[in-house]
Amino acid sequence: MHLSSIPAAVLSILSAWLLLPLAVHASYFEITTPSNGTQWVNGAANPVTWVKGLLDGITSFDVELARLSQDGLLYAAKDVPADTSSLNIFLQNVPAADDYFLLFLNSTHGVMYSVSDKFSIVSTSSASSTPQPLASAPTVSLSGGPNPTNSFSTTFPASANGVIAWKSIEGSVMQITAVTSVVVVAMLSGALAVL
Ligand SMILES: *[C@@H]1O[C@H](CO)[C@@H](O)[C@H](O)[C@H]1NC(C)=O
Ligand SMILES: *[C@@H]1O[C@H](CO)[C@@H](O)[C@H](O)[C@H]1NC(C)=O
Repeated sequence: MHLSSIPAAVLSILSAWLLLPLAVHASYFEITTPSNGTQWVNGAANPVTWVKGLLDGITSFDVELARLSQDGLLYAAKDVPADTSSLNIFLQNVPAADDYFLLFLNSTHGVMYSVSDKFSIVSTSSASSTPQPLASAPTVSLSGGPNPTNSFSTTFPASANGVIAWKSIEGSVMQITAVTSVVVVAMLSGALAVL
């Protein structure tokens, strides 16, 4: 089929599809610590770090621990501001095991943002080394095993309005860019149709 026989409207819809990878790339969110095989220690503040795309519209998230071989969740922190990149979790009497995962999610509607590698939790006495907490990061405490009342140990205060306003400006810049690109491609394909 000759290019000029494709209607300009169809071309512009096709070109909008081509912009989708931009949107997918913007939702990049990865837990960098703990990583595969990291050892967390009871009686110590254990560091958590993450990297996250700026344009995904996620302003806060909840942090939970889960185990591969057991039911039940440990609720560590709610409404963690997403514009920070680290947190310490102080553990007390959390059952030792080597099949823990850290979950970043919105616990209200259950949407998962990121899952860490598998890591272990050990007792103070069997620790091979003491984790180094991150000095500039907030510390939350987590004590005991899975909590049937679903209550989070720590809830962070709601994000300041300024942060949310800035996020929505970032979001609309993204949309304007996408719309502009579609218009430009539509104009180009219109020109092709004339030729
Ligand atoms: C994690 O580490 C273990 C042992 O060090 C290794 O066998 C396994 O393949 C690693 N898994 C991932 C996902 O990297
Ligand atoms: C989870 O989603 C709800 C509904 O969209 C929203 O009100 C809430 O602020 C979100 N929670 C977090 C931690 O982002």
